[in-house]
Amino acid sequence: MSMINGNEESYRPALAAVTSVLQENARIRTLGITFRLDAERKSFSFNPGQFVMITLPGIGEAPFSMCSSPKEKGHFELSIRNLGNVTDGMFRLRKGDVVGVRGPYGHGYPVQEMKGRDIVLVAGGIGFPPLASVVEHVIANRADYGKVWVLYGVKDYDDVIYRQRMKRWSKAKDLEVRMALETPCSKWKGCVGVVTKLFNKLKIDAGNTVGLSCGPPIMLKFVTLGFEKLGIRDGDIFISLERLMQCGIGKCGHCNIGNKYVCTDGPVFRYTDIKNMAEEVW
Ligand SMILES: Cc1cc2nc3c(=O)[nH]c(=O)nc-3n(C[C@H](O)[C@H](O)[C@H](O)COP(=O)(O)OP(=O)(O)OC[C@H]3O[C@@H](n4cnc5c(N)ncnc54)[C@H](O)[C@@H]3O)c2cc1C
Ligand code: FES
Repeated sequence: MSMINGNEESYRPALAAVTSVLQENARIRTLGITFRLDAERKSFSFNPGQFVMITLPGIGEAPFSMCSSPKEKGHFELSIRNLGNVTDGMFRLRKGDVVGVRGPYGHGYPVQEMKGRDIVLVAGGIGFPPLASVVEHVIANRADYGKVWVLYGVKDYDDVIYRQRMKRWSKAKDLEVRMALETPCSKWKGCVGVVTKLFNKLKIDAGNTVGLSCGPPIMLKFVTLGFEKLGIRDGDIFISLERLMQCGIGKCGHCNIGNKYVCTDGPVFRYTDIKNMAEEVW
């Protein structure tokens, strides 16, 4: 593994086994992953929005955000979109296969600071995993948070992921899941259009609401403008960004935006911290 100013220990992956495989749609699978050693099962913990680097021996390494509840000790889930070398390798994994795990890394969503607040989460496409982890966290700690809206935008009906989870979430108290489909479809009777169309019917207490988002850059731009239009303060808007990464720990410089590293300063940023470089962000 390549190293630049690195400490060898920081690059050493822990071994973990695939314990479940769920086909979400034709190109996305959710893998359950459990550490092999007791010590690692006990010590691993994360905040929603953080990521791990997954190593496939002989293929490579790539970052992925946890999509499960941080409450599950020693185990986590990743939803993987089959895109290239590493993700294709992950698509071929079966129960019992072993991967390397480094992390968790980066800053997640500020779940402590969010206590007592209402939350609007907006997910687009494969940006859903880190926000799914936030939803699982809120449900596991329901009394700590106010009303929650999960807004999910997806291109085609067959692209929809987390169907079972969304059904389960909809049963939670004060939690509404709404979906917008870009391409009309006879199987879908709900909102058709881009995800921000769902903002039109939102009635929120803007001063007490935080806005969280993750998805493609163009979506993040319009969601952020939408949050501002709803009256959510810039300091209460949190955006998860994606950049090509190599080390994941602030050593290689691959993931920089302006003077920030997405791997160590993010991947979740408070909007006020990146607003002055918005042109580079989207
Ligand atoms: C913090 C963070 C969290 C992430 N979480 C998830 C997740 O939960 N689930 C998930 O499926 N993916 C996630 N990703 C993206 C994932 O890391 C990439 O899809 C993966 O690195 C691609 O590796 P590969 O070897 O399969 O593709 P490669 O063979 O390296 O690349 C295949 C093609 O895809 C392009 N490409 C590679 N990475 C990206 C990218 N990030 N954006 C756009 N194009 C890209 C390449 O330029 C190339 O054209 C995350 C990325 C970051 C930075
Ligand atoms: S991935 Fe190396 S500095 Fe961020």
